[in-house]
Amino acid sequence: MRFEGKRALVTGAAGGIGRAIVAGLLAEGAHVAVTDRDTSALTGVTHLPGDLLDPTFCDALPARAADALGGLDILCNNAGVITRGPITDTTDADYALTMGVNVEAPFRLCRAAIPLMGQGSAIVNTSSCWGLRPGPDHPLYVMSKAAIASLTQCLGRDHAHQGIRVNAVCPNEVNTPMIRTGFEIRGLDADKAVEELNASVPIGRIAEPEDIADVILFLASDAARYMTGALVEVNGGKPVI
Ligand SMILES: NC(=O)c1ccc[n+]([C@@H]2O[C@H](COP(=O)([O-])OP(=O)(O)OC[C@H]3O[C@@H](n4cnc5c(N)ncnc54)[C@H](O)[C@@H]3O)[C@@H](O)[C@H]2O)c1
Repeated sequence: MRFEGKRALVTGAAGGIGRAIVAGLLAEGAHVAVTDRDTSALTGVTHLPGDLLDPTFCDALPARAADALGGLDILCNNAGVITRGPITDTTDADYALTMGVNVEAPFRLCRAAIPLMGQGSAIVNTSSCWGLRPGPDHPLYVMSKAAIASLTQCLGRDHAHQGIRVNAVCPNEVNTPMIRTGFEIRGLDADKAVEELNASVPIGRIAEPEDIADVILFLASDAARYMTGALVEVNGGKPVI
């Protein structure tokens, strides 16, 4: 029960990785506030649904979670969107969406959460291995994930003296709606495409959401007490090429 008495806020909580984070936190004793556009499928949590593109919603969210839970010890900035295609195919709307959800929202949530947090608190951001080394034809997504990786390193250093650790997990492919809808948009059978992708990973399969959530939970826990500003790649041995 690593999270007994801890109070956590999770974004993107209704998504693939988000659900696994929430389940893990609840299983180990945390009180959890969740946010997503629709959180109604989640149970045993405090519901704070909303749109992360709304700056007012983001600015107020950590305090609302802290009010509901009696404080805030853990923030998981996990929500994200993926925008595909070369820069010449991207629109202003793609830019606003990607940077809004993947960068501005975590920026606002960290800024509002840190003053509420004390010694032993932790922020865990979900970046991507593509935030460390760019993959092809996703410049908007890649730059947004590089930005959250950089924010993680900055805040990890700047707030260590307050006992607030800030780390990021950087997954390669994970079997969630994000990756599956990408296949479907391209007219492919998602199960078949995942099977083919499995063969490209040295460990033998792409990640399941729990494989990533377990690392996020470790980074949120006191077992990672000497880690801050770290970008932890979780890739089953598959580098970005
Ligand atoms: N799936 C992968 O292969 C993969 C790889 C590396 C990194 N990631 C990152 O992992 C994180 C979780 O993604 P996932 O794979 O679970 O995808 P997902 O699509 O299942 O979950 C993302 C969640 O974010 C929420 N969200 C998006 N825009 C929002 C908004 N404006 N307001 C509120 N909520 C919003 C969605 O509703 C969704 O529930 C993301 O940051 C993603 O970039 C995923």
